[in-house]
Amino acid sequence: MIIRLAVARVAEFLSAASPVVLQSGVPSSYKSPSHDVLLQTAIEAGQAAGALLRRYAGTGFLIEYKTPINLVTDADRAAEQCVIDHLKTRFPDHHVLAEEGGRIDKGQSPYRWIIDPLDGTTNFAHGYPAYCVSIGLEYEGRCILGVVFDPTRNDLFTAFEHRGAHLNGRPIHVTETQTLDSSLLVTGFAYDIRETKRNNLDHFAKFALKVQGLRRTGSAALDLCYVAAGRFDGFWEVRLNPWDMAAGSVIAREAGGRLTDFNGNDLSIYGQELVASNGHIHEAMLTVLNEAPSET
Ligand code: IPD
Ligand code: CA
Ligand code: CA
Repeated sequence: MIIRLAVARVAEFLSAASPVVLQSGVPSSYKSPSHDVLLQTAIEAGQAAGALLRRYAGTGFLIEYKTPINLVTDADRAAEQCVIDHLKTRFPDHHVLAEEGGRIDKGQSPYRWIIDPLDGTTNFAHGYPAYCVSIGLEYEGRCILGVVFDPTRNDLFTAFEHRGAHLNGRPIHVTETQTLDSSLLVTGFAYDIRETKRNNLDHFAKFALKVQGLRRTGSAALDLCYVAAGRFDGFWEVRLNPWDMAAGSVIAREAGGRLTDFNGNDLSIYGQELVASNGHIHEAMLTVLNEAPSET
């Protein structure tokens, strides 16, 4: 009995003095917030930032030019601050990767929020109502949560790993479309479209002749959510950033979608290439994306 007590005391002392460290570098004593708290906080942050964007859209905003076609507005910055304030109030130790402000990584946490405060900036700047707030969450490098809020339609897309995807609380699922011929696809173009030959125009031309319809909406996060909701059958793009894909990729995957790079490898949000589909047309999409470039 005495020996057992002594052993317990030593264990207690050791754990207080030097917490066991997991492979990720995070102490084993780390207490994870519940899934519901994570999701609810992200929803509140997305809706607050979305309301802010609507106010800016109504009252006016300042535009700055990163390049002649790559804009940023004070609405982008205000929305980003709003999201970060919400998240940091509840989870002060979590890491953040945000489009406008970059990385805020202090201390050790297995969580990292990945934020695009305004996906669809060009649409927003022109008053074209197709933009959203996108908030994804990584746990030990794996995307586990996605919240995308479109404040112009009040569309709230949410997903948590293994718990399905929802639009305004109702479950959503990808389509059953079996062929490219009967598919509605979507794509996008990066801001360096004028500077690089790998600008997606060749893929665009090829798909245009093979599908029922092809769209370019100007918001990659919404494009992923629309695949999830069965509004599109597939989406591809090159040169995307992690904040364009983090939230939407969880939502599309949880809705039953398949997500890869152009070679069919599992998607990495740091890998720039994205193919998202209902699964049935995925191989056909990869075949088109891997055809030799046209001779023009
Ligand atoms: C852009 C949009 C667009 C995609 C671009 C992105 P932003 O993000 O998602 O649809 O084609 O590649 O950069 O600048 O509006 O946040
Ligand atoms: Ca974006
Ligand atoms: Ca953005």
